Amino acid sequence: MVSEEEQRKKAVMEQEVEIIKRMSKIKHKIAVMSGKGGVGKSTVSVNLAAAFAKKGYKTGIMDADVHGPNVPKMLGVEGKNLGYSEDGITPVETEEGIKVMSVGFFLSSQDTPVIWRGPAKTGAIKQFFAEVNWGDLDVLIIDNPPGTGDEPLTVLQTVPLDGVVLVTTPQSVVQEDVIKGVNLVKNLNIPIIGVIENMSGFICPHCENEILIFGKGTGTKLAEEMDIPFLGRLPLDVETAASSDSGNPVVIKEPESEISVRISKIVDKIESQIISKS
Ligand SMILES: Nc1ncnc2c1ncn2[C@@H]1O[C@H](COP(=O)(O)OP(=O)(O)OP(=O)(O)O)[C@@H](O)[C@H]1O
Ligand SMILES: [Mg+2]
Repeated sequence: MVSEEEQRKKAVMEQEVEIIKRMSKIKHKIAVMSGKGGVGKSTVSVNLAAAFAKKGYKTGIMDADVHGPNVPKMLGVEGKNLGYSEDGITPVETEEGIKVMSVGFFLSSQDTPVIWRGPAKTGAIKQFFAEVNWGDLDVLIIDNPPGTGDEPLTVLQTVPLDGVVLVTTPQSVVQEDVIKGVNLVKNLNIPIIGVIENMSGFICPHCENEILIFGKGTGTKLAEEMDIPFLGRLPLDVETAASSDSGNPVVIKEPESEISVRISKIVDKIESQIISKS
């Protein structure tokens, strides 16, 4: 007789094998993290995914935020259905061909709260990596909830990441939390691709002058002090907020805008750091 404990161990091992198999078909895996909530991780994630897809990379995005899954809405695929086949769960695809996976697809309404404790969250995220049939991808972006809790930790420990992109804003309280994130990632020996300073200044739509609401240079200083690359500053932008709400990332909706140009430059930097080198 096989004991329950042995059965459990076997299931864990089988899941690990499945994760390795699935992840080996994805060339580059990038996690987006931050210490604080609301700094723009999901906005950055969907725009990075859209910018990679525009460059011709086969791209996927995994929403690891089980409590506030915003990615489907931001990519205009909210309410769409996942497929199921012998090869696992088929992710939803956007018009641009970005493959999307999110707990949001399992909820009947965005207003439904997900009440999950630590082990259930860890289990769900591992299941996503083991059971979603991403197929062959060039890039997978993983959007994380804020902080260094169960979900980001599971992502960091489960997926062989190319590295982590950290998002911060210029306020010092936010930066203090980013430092915690940097230290966690460093302790796990995972590369840090770099830091993005979001909501950094406001470009006046009338005079096009940049107004630095929270001061200047905090992100670059943080990057220097923590010895990590600085990827760029993204301004507060009215169109960006509106386009996230309407399910159309700004790099697709307004490709010529200042923020889209800056996002493209960041993607070029990431590309030269991890893709061109491989
Ligand atoms: N550069 C920007 N300009 C204007 N609005 C922005 C910008 N970046 C993000 N936002 C807006 O700020 C809000 C928070 O952004 P977002 O949801 O991406 O943050 P988050 O870090 O993922 O939040 P959470 O921690 O809750 O997951 C959203 O309404 C988004 O549209
Ligand atoms: Mg988010």
